[in-house]
Amino acid sequence: GASTMVDPFGRTIDYLRVSITDRCDFRCAYCMSEDMTFLPRADLLTLEELDRLCSAFIVRGVRKLRLTGGEPLVRRNMMSLVRSLSRHLDTGALRELTLTTNGSQLARFAAELRDCGVRRINVSLDTLDPAKFRAITRWGEFDRVIAGIEAARAAGLAVKINAVVLKGVNEDEIPALMQWAHGLGMGLTLIEVMPLGEIGEGRIDQYVPLSLVRARLSNNYTLTDLPDSTGGPARYVRVEETGGKLGFITPLTHNFCESCNRVRITCTGTLHTCLGQEDAADLRRPLRASPDDALLNAAIDRAIGHKPKGHDFIIDRKHDRPSVSRHMSVTGG
Ligand code: GTP
Ligand code: 5AD
Ligand code: SF4
Repeated sequence: GASTMVDPFGRTIDYLRVSITDRCDFRCAYCMSEDMTFLPRADLLTLEELDRLCSAFIVRGVRKLRLTGGEPLVRRNMMSLVRSLSRHLDTGALRELTLTTNGSQLARFAAELRDCGVRRINVSLDTLDPAKFRAITRWGEFDRVIAGIEAARAAGLAVKINAVVLKGVNEDEIPALMQWAHGLGMGLTLIEVMPLGEIGEGRIDQYVPLSLVRARLSNNYTLTDLPDSTGGPARYVRVEETGGKLGFITPLTHNFCESCNRVRITCTGTLHTCLGQEDAADLRRPLRASPDDALLNAAIDRAIGHKPKGHDFIIDRKHDRPSVSRHMSVTGG
């Protein structure tokens, strides 16, 4: 029988991130180049195949499943996948079914997500300034994202805001973002920009170490460390003055790989056991080779057996090239 997934470093894998499409209706400057090319549509797994793949991982001990992209809500008929996966919540096999989204389509889907057992979502929003928002996303409409967030809250979804801190762009705005998010009862998680994929420029001019942001915040706010609660990579603090939660995702300044509990699959059925390494295992072939999961499980075991120890992201004047060639939108982080 299939057993729990434990890697060579003793880390149990119970968190699966699934990029259901690498496409997105935005082109965030740190994520994509303006003329981004996407995976060939012919290579895409169907939603039924994605369901089967996810379900195989749930049998193997995945307890938290996050749909990502690209932008997950732009994939046609994606709610049918969410609805179908929600059966694993009903049986108790899955503890959490969730989503990371740019919010652009959220107004349309919020109520249905909630109805499918989703309780908490992460929305990417780097600024409250519509002009900056357009500059960062190139395509994005700020008002639609705000409407999406409002719809999600109205539908009873807990919302956490993710913001990538960008030098000279939103770094001065972090206290305002935090006051806004916390004022509405939403958490805020700050993210260091990561060197994934060619974006047509270096990242040295974007990168801000979060140690610096935290030090600046500490001048005006009392930050108290909290124990990890979501099973994600963030470290959290409670902000006394706002009563809200603030997270830090620091792949550059503080490596969290030793407690890594996750792997990711792409919309073409490729398994990436580390965000920061090129390692890739094709699961589409074994998935399609047989209706039985034996070949698939063998391929999963082989890949987990080679999960890298961690990433070695670096951003400095001498090293300002992507660490890995894939974009974040391929693996969904
Ligand atoms: P919570 O469940 O709320 O803790 O969410 P999460 O942080 O696990 O997921 P989310 O999709 O909000 O991701 C936030 C950021 O964390 C994204 O920029 C991801 O790329 C990044 N992230 C998630 N997993 C990893 C990882 O294994 N390594 C690195 N370097 N970054 C990761
Ligand atoms: N570095 C850090 N975060 C990134 N994201 C996308 N690309 C990058 C990158 N290169 C973020 C998005 C979203 C999350 C899933 O990943 O802003 O919040
Ligand atoms: Fe789209 Fe998210 Fe990448 Fe922005 S960060 S382009 S919203 S996938």
